[in-house]
Amino acid sequence: MNTLTIIQPDDWHLHVRTGAILNTVIAHTARQFKRAIIMPNLKPPVTSVELALNYRDEILQALPKDSEFEPLMTLYLTNQTTVDDVKKVAASDAIHAFKLYPAGATTNSDAGVNNVTAVYPILEAMQQHNVPLLIHGEVTDEDCDIFDRERVFIERYLTDIVKQFPALKIVLEHVTTEEAVQFVESASSNIAATITPQHLHYNRNAILVGGIRPHHYCLPILKREKHRLALVKAATSGNPKFFLGTDSAPHLTHLKENACGCAGCYSAHAAIELYAEVFEKENALDKLEAFASFYGADFYGLPRNKQTITLEKQNWTVPASYGESDIMITPLKANETLAWKLI
Ligand code: NCD
Ligand code: ZN
Repeated sequence: MNTLTIIQPDDWHLHVRTGAILNTVIAHTARQFKRAIIMPNLKPPVTSVELALNYRDEILQALPKDSEFEPLMTLYLTNQTTVDDVKKVAASDAIHAFKLYPAGATTNSDAGVNNVTAVYPILEAMQQHNVPLLIHGEVTDEDCDIFDRERVFIERYLTDIVKQFPALKIVLEHVTTEEAVQFVESASSNIAATITPQHLHYNRNAILVGGIRPHHYCLPILKREKHRLALVKAATSGNPKFFLGTDSAPHLTHLKENACGCAGCYSAHAAIELYAEVFEKENALDKLEAFASFYGADFYGLPRNKQTITLEKQNWTVPASYGESDIMITPLKANETLAWKLI
Protein backbone atom coordinates (compact mmCIF):
# COMPACT_ATOMS: atom_id res chain seq x y z
CA MET A 1 0.00 0.00 0.00
CA ASN A 2 1.50 3.36 -1.02
CA THR A 3 -1.16 5.77 0.16
CA LEU A 4 -3.61 5.58 2.99
CA THR A 5 -6.67 7.82 3.23
CA ILE A 6 -8.59 7.89 6.48
CA ILE A 7 -11.21 10.08 8.11
CA GLN A 8 -9.44 12.95 9.83
CA PRO A 9 -8.22 11.85 13.28
CA ASP A 10 -8.54 13.55 16.68
CA ASP A 11 -5.97 13.64 19.48
CA TRP A 12 -7.61 12.71 22.77
CA HIS A 13 -4.66 13.80 24.98
CA LEU A 14 -2.57 16.83 24.12
CA HIS A 15 -0.41 19.50 25.81
CA VAL A 16 0.07 22.75 23.90
CA ARG A 17 1.14 25.15 26.73
CA THR A 18 0.75 28.91 26.21
CA GLY A 19 2.57 31.88 24.69
CA ALA A 20 5.63 31.25 22.53
CA ILE A 21 5.54 27.45 22.92
CA LEU A 22 1.87 27.34 21.93
CA ASN A 23 2.69 29.43 18.87
CA THR A 24 5.50 27.05 17.95
CA VAL A 25 3.55 23.79 18.28
CA ILE A 26 -0.13 24.34 17.49
CA ALA A 27 0.17 24.19 13.69
CA HIS A 28 1.66 20.69 13.92
CA THR A 29 -1.47 19.40 15.60
CA ALA A 30 -3.88 21.46 13.50
CA ARG A 31 -2.51 20.17 10.19
CA GLN A 32 -3.51 16.59 10.95
CA PHE A 33 -6.10 16.53 13.74
CA LYS A 34 -9.59 18.04 13.66
CA ARG A 35 -9.92 18.17 17.44
CA ALA A 36 -7.82 17.58 20.51
CA ILE A 37 -8.48 17.20 24.22
CA ILE A 38 -6.33 19.93 25.74
CA MET A 39 -4.69 19.13 29.06
CA PRO A 40 -5.15 21.70 31.84
CA ASN A 41 -1.75 21.40 33.57
CA LEU A 42 -0.70 25.00 33.01
CA LYS A 43 0.97 27.13 35.67
CA PRO A 44 -1.39 28.04 37.31
CA PRO A 45 -3.66 25.13 36.38
CA VAL A 46 -6.92 25.53 34.45
CA THR A 47 -9.36 25.02 37.30
CA SER A 48 -12.45 27.01 36.29
CA VAL A 49 -14.75 27.35 33.30
CA GLU A 50 -13.62 30.93 32.91
CA LEU A 51 -9.91 29.99 32.78
CA ALA A 52 -10.68 27.20 30.31
CA LEU A 53 -12.58 29.55 28.01
CA ASN A 54 -9.73 32.08 28.13
CA TYR A 55 -7.24 29.35 27.34
CA ARG A 56 -9.45 28.16 24.48
CA ASP A 57 -9.42 31.70 23.05
CA GLU A 58 -5.66 31.85 23.28
CA ILE A 59 -5.36 28.56 21.36
CA LEU A 60 -7.82 29.73 18.69
CA GLN A 61 -5.80 32.95 18.29
CA ALA A 62 -2.59 30.96 17.82
CA LEU A 63 -4.00 28.78 15.00
CA PRO A 64 -2.91 29.27 11.41
CA LYS A 65 -5.40 31.30 9.37
CA ASP A 66 -8.38 29.26 8.09
CA SER A 67 -7.61 26.33 10.38
CA GLU A 68 -10.71 24.38 11.39
CA PHE A 69 -9.00 22.83 14.38
CA GLU A 70 -11.15 22.69 17.49
CA PRO A 71 -9.64 22.58 21.00
CA LEU A 72 -11.72 20.52 23.43
CA MET A 73 -11.05 21.93 26.86
CA THR A 74 -10.69 20.18 30.23
CA LEU A 75 -10.60 21.32 33.85
CA TYR A 76 -7.96 20.36 36.37
CA LEU A 77 -9.53 18.51 39.29
CA THR A 78 -8.29 19.82 42.64
CA ASN A 79 -9.28 19.47 46.28
CA GLN A 80 -11.22 22.72 45.75
CA THR A 81 -13.34 21.57 42.79
CA THR A 82 -17.06 21.89 43.63
CA VAL A 83 -20.25 20.19 42.47
CA ASP A 84 -21.16 23.54 40.97
CA ASP A 85 -18.01 23.38 38.78
CA VAL A 86 -19.17 19.97 37.55
CA LYS A 87 -22.59 21.36 36.65
CA LYS A 88 -20.98 24.24 34.76
CA VAL A 89 -18.80 21.85 32.78
CA ALA A 90 -21.80 19.65 31.99
CA ALA A 91 -23.61 22.73 30.64
CA SER A 92 -20.65 23.91 28.55
CA ASP A 93 -20.14 22.93 24.90
CA ALA A 94 -16.48 23.90 25.06
CA ILE A 95 -15.36 21.86 28.09
CA HIS A 96 -15.45 18.09 27.93
CA ALA A 97 -13.88 16.50 30.98
CA PHE A 98 -12.00 16.80 34.28
CA LYS A 99 -8.42 15.62 34.61
CA LEU A 100 -7.25 13.97 37.80
CA TYR A 101 -3.54 14.25 38.53
CA PRO A 102 -2.35 12.68 41.77
CA ALA A 103 -0.41 15.57 43.39
CA GLY A 104 3.22 15.46 42.28
CA ALA A 105 2.78 12.65 39.71
CA THR A 106 4.04 14.59 36.69
CA THR A 107 4.82 17.96 35.07
CA ASN A 108 2.84 20.79 36.73
CA SER A 109 0.81 18.50 38.98
CA ASP A 110 1.49 20.17 42.35
CA ALA A 111 -2.12 21.35 42.51
CA GLY A 112 -3.38 17.81 42.01
CA VAL A 113 -5.42 15.65 44.33
CA ASN A 114 -3.60 14.21 47.34
CA ASN A 115 -6.48 12.19 48.72
CA VAL A 116 -8.50 10.48 46.02
CA THR A 117 -11.42 9.52 48.25
CA ALA A 118 -11.83 13.18 49.29
CA VAL A 119 -12.99 13.99 45.76
CA TYR A 120 -15.57 11.16 45.65
CA PRO A 121 -18.49 13.63 45.98
CA ILE A 122 -17.17 15.36 42.84
CA LEU A 123 -16.87 12.05 41.00
CA GLU A 124 -20.44 11.31 42.07
CA ALA A 125 -21.58 14.56 40.44
CA MET A 126 -19.55 13.80 37.31
CA GLN A 127 -21.23 10.42 37.06
CA GLN A 128 -24.64 12.01 37.50
CA HIS A 129 -24.00 14.71 34.86
CA ASN A 130 -22.18 12.40 32.45
CA VAL A 131 -18.88 14.32 32.57
CA PRO A 132 -15.85 12.09 31.80
CA LEU A 133 -12.96 11.72 34.25
CA LEU A 134 -9.50 11.56 32.69
CA ILE A 135 -6.90 9.99 34.95
CA HIS A 136 -3.13 10.19 35.18
CA GLY A 137 -2.92 6.76 36.78
CA GLU A 138 0.23 6.69 38.86
CA VAL A 139 0.78 6.66 42.61
CA THR A 140 3.29 9.13 43.94
CA ASP A 141 4.63 7.32 47.03
CA GLU A 142 8.35 7.77 47.36
CA ASP A 143 8.76 4.11 48.24
CA CYS A 144 6.91 2.87 45.16
CA ASP A 145 9.25 1.95 42.32
CA ILE A 146 8.68 4.24 39.33
CA PHE A 147 8.09 1.25 37.05
CA ASP A 148 5.30 -0.03 39.34
CA ARG A 149 3.44 3.24 39.84
CA GLU A 150 0.75 2.65 37.23
CA ARG A 151 -0.01 -0.91 38.30
CA VAL A 152 -0.23 0.13 41.96
CA PHE A 153 -2.54 3.06 41.12
CA ILE A 154 -4.92 0.66 39.42
CA GLU A 155 -4.89 -1.75 42.37
CA ARG A 156 -5.10 0.89 45.06
CA TYR A 157 -7.40 3.55 43.56
CA LEU A 158 -8.87 2.82 40.16
CA THR A 159 -10.46 -0.48 41.11
CA ASP A 160 -12.39 1.26 43.86
CA ILE A 161 -13.35 4.29 41.75
CA VAL A 162 -14.83 1.99 39.12
CA LYS A 163 -16.69 0.05 41.83
CA GLN A 164 -18.10 3.16 43.55
CA PHE A 165 -19.10 4.90 40.29
CA PRO A 166 -20.07 2.18 37.84
CA ALA A 167 -21.57 4.60 35.31
CA LEU A 168 -18.76 7.20 35.41
CA LYS A 169 -16.98 7.57 32.06
CA ILE A 170 -13.25 7.17 32.69
CA VAL A 171 -10.26 7.44 30.39
CA LEU A 172 -7.11 5.94 31.85
CA GLU A 173 -4.67 8.20 30.03
CA HIS A 174 -1.46 7.09 28.34
CA VAL A 175 -1.54 3.46 29.50
CA THR A 176 1.88 1.87 29.68
CA THR A 177 1.49 -1.61 31.15
CA GLU A 178 0.02 -5.02 30.45
CA GLU A 179 -1.90 -4.65 33.72
CA ALA A 180 -3.55 -1.43 32.56
CA VAL A 181 -4.52 -3.02 29.25
CA GLN A 182 -6.05 -5.99 31.08
CA PHE A 183 -7.87 -3.74 33.52
CA VAL A 184 -9.44 -1.67 30.73
CA GLU A 185 -10.31 -4.72 28.64
CA SER A 186 -12.14 -6.41 31.47
CA ALA A 187 -13.93 -3.27 32.72
CA SER A 188 -17.32 -2.09 31.46
CA SER A 189 -17.72 -0.11 28.24
CA ASN A 190 -17.53 3.27 30.01
CA ILE A 191 -13.83 2.66 30.81
CA ALA A 192 -11.37 3.43 28.01
CA ALA A 193 -7.70 4.29 27.52
CA THR A 194 -5.47 6.42 25.34
CA ILE A 195 -2.16 5.13 23.96
CA THR A 196 0.80 7.36 22.97
CA PRO A 197 3.21 6.91 20.07
CA GLN A 198 6.25 6.72 22.35
CA HIS A 199 4.82 3.84 24.36
CA LEU A 200 4.11 1.95 21.10
CA HIS A 201 7.58 2.63 19.65
CA TYR A 202 9.87 2.21 22.61
CA ASN A 203 10.59 0.17 25.69
CA ARG A 204 12.64 1.42 28.64
CA ASN A 205 15.96 0.59 26.98
CA ALA A 206 15.34 3.64 24.80
CA ILE A 207 15.98 5.85 27.84
CA LEU A 208 19.10 4.18 29.14
CA VAL A 209 21.04 2.07 26.61
CA GLY A 210 24.14 3.73 25.15
CA GLY A 211 23.71 6.83 27.30
CA ILE A 212 20.85 8.70 28.93
CA ARG A 213 18.31 9.85 26.34
CA PRO A 214 16.31 12.64 27.93
CA HIS A 215 13.98 13.02 24.95
CA HIS A 216 12.59 9.56 25.68
CA TYR A 217 11.82 10.46 29.28
CA CYS A 218 8.11 10.92 29.85
CA LEU A 219 5.61 9.94 32.50
CA PRO A 220 4.38 7.32 32.93
CA ILE A 221 7.89 6.12 32.16
CA LEU A 222 8.56 3.66 29.31
CA LYS A 223 8.30 0.07 30.53
CA ARG A 224 9.70 -3.37 29.61
CA GLU A 225 9.24 -4.83 26.14
CA LYS A 226 6.41 -7.17 27.23
CA HIS A 227 4.37 -4.09 28.17
CA ARG A 228 5.07 -2.38 24.86
CA LEU A 229 3.89 -5.52 23.09
CA ALA A 230 0.66 -5.53 25.12
CA LEU A 231 0.04 -1.91 24.11
CA VAL A 232 0.69 -2.60 20.43
CA LYS A 233 -1.73 -5.51 20.62
CA ALA A 234 -4.41 -3.39 22.29
CA ALA A 235 -4.04 -0.46 19.89
CA THR A 236 -4.18 -2.63 16.78
CA SER A 237 -6.87 -5.00 18.07
CA GLY A 238 -9.90 -3.05 16.90
CA ASN A 239 -11.15 -2.84 20.50
CA PRO A 240 -13.01 0.52 20.77
CA LYS A 241 -11.80 0.99 24.36
CA PHE A 242 -8.33 1.97 23.08
CA PHE A 243 -7.87 5.15 21.09
CA LEU A 244 -5.30 7.72 20.01
CA GLY A 245 -3.94 10.21 22.54
CA THR A 246 -0.44 11.46 21.79
CA ASP A 247 0.37 13.08 25.13
CA SER A 248 2.58 15.30 22.98
CA ALA A 249 4.19 17.45 25.68
CA PRO A 250 6.55 20.17 24.45
CA HIS A 251 9.44 21.21 26.72
CA LEU A 252 12.33 23.44 25.78
CA THR A 253 15.32 21.38 24.67
CA HIS A 254 17.63 22.79 27.34
CA LEU A 255 15.16 21.88 30.07
CA LYS A 256 15.11 18.27 28.92
CA GLU A 257 18.87 18.05 28.34
CA ASN A 258 19.45 19.01 31.93
CA ALA A 259 20.78 17.53 35.18
CA CYS A 260 17.11 17.26 36.18
CA GLY A 261 15.36 16.94 32.83
CA CYS A 262 11.61 17.37 32.65
CA ALA A 263 9.13 14.70 31.61
CA GLY A 264 7.35 14.68 28.28
CA CYS A 265 7.91 13.68 24.64
CA TYR A 266 7.05 16.04 21.80
CA SER A 267 5.29 14.08 19.03
CA ALA A 268 2.79 16.46 17.42
CA HIS A 269 5.10 17.08 14.43
CA ALA A 270 4.58 13.50 13.20
CA ALA A 271 1.89 11.93 15.33
CA ILE A 272 -0.25 10.16 12.76
CA GLU A 273 2.86 9.03 10.87
CA LEU A 274 4.30 7.52 14.04
CA TYR A 275 1.11 5.56 14.67
CA ALA A 276 0.92 4.46 11.02
CA GLU A 277 4.40 2.95 11.26
CA VAL A 278 3.38 0.82 14.24
CA PHE A 279 0.14 -0.33 12.63
CA GLU A 280 1.92 -1.23 9.41
CA LYS A 281 4.49 -3.36 11.24
CA GLU A 282 1.60 -5.27 12.79
CA ASN A 283 -0.09 -5.68 9.43
CA ALA A 284 -2.98 -3.73 10.88
CA LEU A 285 -3.17 -0.55 8.78
CA ASP A 286 -6.85 -1.37 8.26
CA LYS A 287 -7.36 -0.78 12.01
CA LEU A 288 -5.69 2.65 12.12
CA GLU A 289 -8.71 4.70 11.07
CA ALA A 290 -10.99 3.46 13.83
CA PHE A 291 -8.27 3.84 16.49
CA ALA A 292 -7.37 7.35 15.33
CA SER A 293 -10.68 8.73 14.11
CA PHE A 294 -13.71 6.81 15.43
CA TYR A 295 -13.38 5.29 18.89
CA GLY A 296 -12.45 8.46 20.76
CA ALA A 297 -15.28 10.49 19.26
CA ASP A 298 -17.72 7.67 19.99
CA PHE A 299 -16.53 7.47 23.60
CA TYR A 300 -16.92 11.22 24.17
CA GLY A 301 -20.32 11.21 22.44
CA LEU A 302 -19.10 13.58 19.71
CA PRO A 303 -19.75 13.24 15.97
CA ARG A 304 -17.13 11.50 13.86
CA ASN A 305 -15.21 13.79 11.51
CA LYS A 306 -16.16 14.04 7.85
CA GLN A 307 -12.98 15.26 6.11
CA THR A 308 -10.17 12.89 5.26
CA ILE A 309 -6.38 13.00 5.42
CA THR A 310 -3.95 11.07 3.23
CA LEU A 311 -0.65 9.51 4.20
CA GLU A 312 1.92 8.43 1.65
CA LYS A 313 4.61 5.76 1.99
CA GLN A 314 7.53 8.12 1.70
CA ASN A 315 10.71 8.46 3.73
CA TRP A 316 11.39 11.79 5.35
CA THR A 317 13.80 12.96 8.01
CA VAL A 318 12.54 14.57 11.18
CA PRO A 319 14.32 17.89 11.86
CA ALA A 320 16.74 18.14 14.77
CA SER A 321 14.49 20.74 16.37
CA TYR A 322 11.54 23.04 15.86
CA GLY A 323 11.22 26.69 16.82
CA GLU A 324 13.74 29.48 17.23
CA SER A 325 16.86 29.64 19.36
CA ASP A 326 15.14 30.67 22.60
CA ILE A 327 12.10 28.42 21.96
CA MET A 328 13.77 25.26 20.74
CA ILE A 329 11.90 21.96 20.99
CA THR A 330 13.45 18.60 20.18
CA PRO A 331 10.89 16.27 18.62
CA LEU A 332 10.55 12.53 19.02
CA LYS A 333 12.71 10.77 16.38
CA ALA A 334 14.78 13.92 15.78
CA ASN A 335 17.17 13.34 12.80
CA GLU A 336 15.61 9.93 12.13
CA THR A 337 13.76 8.69 9.08
CA LEU A 338 10.04 8.01 9.16
CA ALA A 339 8.27 5.75 6.68
CA TRP A 340 4.96 7.60 6.26
CA LYS A 341 4.28 11.21 5.42
CA LEU A 342 1.10 13.21 5.72
CA ILE A 343 0.39 14.92 2.39
C1 NCD B 1 3.26 15.81 30.57
C2 NCD B 1 3.63 17.30 30.48
O1 NCD B 1 4.78 17.59 30.18
O2 NCD B 1 2.75 18.14 30.67
N1 NCD B 1 4.46 15.06 30.70
C3 NCD B 1 4.62 13.74 30.43
O3 NCD B 1 5.70 13.20 30.72
N2 NCD B 1 3.67 13.02 29.88
C4 NCD B 1 2.32 15.59 31.68
C5 NCD B 1 1.66 14.24 31.67
O4 NCD B 1 0.79 13.96 30.85
O5 NCD B 1 2.01 13.42 32.52
ZN1 ZN C 1 -0.22 14.30 29.29
